[in-house]
Amino acid sequence: MIEFEHVGKRFGERVVIEDLSLRIDDGEFFVLVGPSGSGKSTLLRTVNRLAHVDSGIVRVDGRDVSSVEREALRRGIGYAIQSVGLFPHRTVAENIATVPRLLAWSDADVRARVAELIDLLRLDEPGIADRYPHTLSGGQQQRVGVARALAARPRIVLMDEPFGALDPVTRESLQTRLKAIQRDTGTTILFVTHDMDEAFRLGDRVAVMLDGGLAQVGRPLDLLHRPVDDRVRDFVGGTHARLRELAVRTVGGSMRVGDRADGEPVDAADSLQDALASMLAQRRDRLPVRERGAIVGAIVLGDLVAREP
Ligand SMILES: Nc1ncnc2c1ncn2[C@@H]1O[C@H](COP(=O)(O)OP(=O)(O)OP(=O)(O)O)[C@@H](O)[C@H]1O
Ligand SMILES: [Mg+2]
Repeated sequence: MIEFEHVGKRFGERVVIEDLSLRIDDGEFFVLVGPSGSGKSTLLRTVNRLAHVDSGIVRVDGRDVSSVEREALRRGIGYAIQSVGLFPHRTVAENIATVPRLLAWSDADVRARVAELIDLLRLDEPGIADRYPHTLSGGQQQRVGVARALAARPRIVLMDEPFGALDPVTRESLQTRLKAIQRDTGTTILFVTHDMDEAFRLGDRVAVMLDGGLAQVGRPLDLLHRPVDDRVRDFVGGTHARLRELAVRTVGGSMRVGDRADGEPVDAADSLQDALASMLAQRRDRLPVRERGAIVGAIVLGDLVAREP
């Protein structure tokens, strides 16, 4: 659990965070979005004490972070940032193994974990484990950064635009993997992004940060349907809101149970956005829906639109 209690932070004269309170529960995937300069990275960095607060308290698992020894705090919290910060003179495998080594894992455990993460993050180029960071593409470096953050299976992970340098396809596949890892392990993730689609795809809750405060905190659909003011409405995406909603809703929630349709089936767990793409590709306005290998119903184009919760 991460708690911010009346947190304030300034750089010189400039107030960057003002009286901010927020609680992130265990196992939650929490996403912070907001314009450049709104204080997202600074807030994230107060958790592992890369930034110190001027007022208020930040607690991790109930303990005021300012009372925890700094190295111990950081060892226990994964941290991945856009600019990566890999150690240039260490190989990919050595970079990923950084925290497990500090925690004195056995060689066999370290090797197994590195191999697992290389696979999870689709770093599957032969020999990549023994290469140095400068020989990797920007996107590969980012993935190594994420692997390093996850390596010792920390219960809390801070991620600051970790997928910023990736192409859309790789990015989406890594989002799916990260979300699955987070669900399977119950990791608490505090994730910063500029990308609203990424926020809505990943977040159990999303906070819109404006001018150093939280304009709104809620589930993705709450933000889409009930923005508290025009600033949030504009930020969350005005005309794109409908398309965003398709990315959040699943086929299972909108299908007609028991109905039939022709064509290549979609999965009940797929997003409505996936279903729409599939309909367009197959040139059909309804498709069968599959769940655990059996056809359970149909999804209909007209049902994708015009739904209020
Ligand atoms: N170490 C620092 N010294 C002085 N000012 C800083 C420092 N770090 C951040 N700031 C300022 O604090 C404000 C918030 O910065 P922060 O990096 O938290 O924003 P952000 O929301 O993460 O923006 P972006 O989306 O561009 O990453 C900015 O005006 C920035 O210039
Ligand atoms: Mg930032």
